[in-house]
Amino acid sequence: MNQDIRAPYYGELGRLSFSPGWARPEPAMWPAPRPKFKPAVWRFAAAKAALDQAGEFVPVEQAERRNLIMVNPIEGNIYATSRNIVAAYQMVKAGEKARSHRHTAAALRLVVEAKPGTYTVVDGARVDMAPGDVVLTPSWCWHGHANESDATSYWIDFLDVPFVQHSEAMFFEPNPAGFEPITRNGPSPYRIPARAALGAGTDAKVVEIAKGALPTIGLHLIRLPAGTRRDVPKITVNHLYSVISGTARVKIDGGANELLSVGDVITVPCWHAHSLTADEDAIVFQVTDEPLLAKVGLVKTATA
Ligand SMILES: [Fe+2]
Repeated sequence: MNQDIRAPYYGELGRLSFSPGWARPEPAMWPAPRPKFKPAVWRFAAAKAALDQAGEFVPVEQAERRNLIMVNPIEGNIYATSRNIVAAYQMVKAGEKARSHRHTAAALRLVVEAKPGTYTVVDGARVDMAPGDVVLTPSWCWHGHANESDATSYWIDFLDVPFVQHSEAMFFEPNPAGFEPITRNGPSPYRIPARAALGAGTDAKVVEIAKGALPTIGLHLIRLPAGTRRDVPKITVNHLYSVISGTARVKIDGGANELLSVGDVITVPCWHAHSLTADEDAIVFQVTDEPLLAKVGLVKTATA
């Protein structure tokens, strides 16, 4: 092929929506993961102050949810916290109800501050929410939030929305009743109090909770006594952590060394070896996309 026909040739390929595999602007494959997402930290104190301000001019009736999304600070990203998971701080003021809806995205929340009288209605069942509780709303379960206490409630939502959006399998539906009425009582399998799940004792311990309840998201509670350390190798799994009690330090690739307090969130993208340490006794909440990656055989750890 001589030089003269190349330009029109490539022009014609583009018109036909072809791209020559031999001249890609960037490779499609590479030797090892190259995460585009970055480690990043969000502080509960900052979120709480900003949500309190929003509470003055954002009525819950207007917002589907009054929340602050933790947007990973990488170019072009406007939503996701990590590759497959988004996290957000949410606030429901005393006396408010956040209307019921359902979506194919799976969700859960970690309660940071809530007084008795705060609850989520999941498929007609009242699920009470107290600090340290994990409340699940699996895919397509109706859920609405209510706060009948005399204080504002705050929690952290985690959803697999980035993955569901990527898969183009998103469905969303508002509940026709507005706020779904309570039709069932009794204990709910969707409420997991962290301390009870960890059990008695003061030893270092890791407990998986809600195993299999959310097909894309893995949840662990980590009891980290003062002076202990937990190492996580380079792995394709994306990790997010928050702190339920005490403080914990997250050190990434021997670099960033962040001290997390209750309600703070850190995202550690795949392929970043990291460690958790505690200067004081801590309970740490871990959220990962491991179940999703495991289903497609993509959980890989660095061998070197
Ligand atoms: Fe929702």
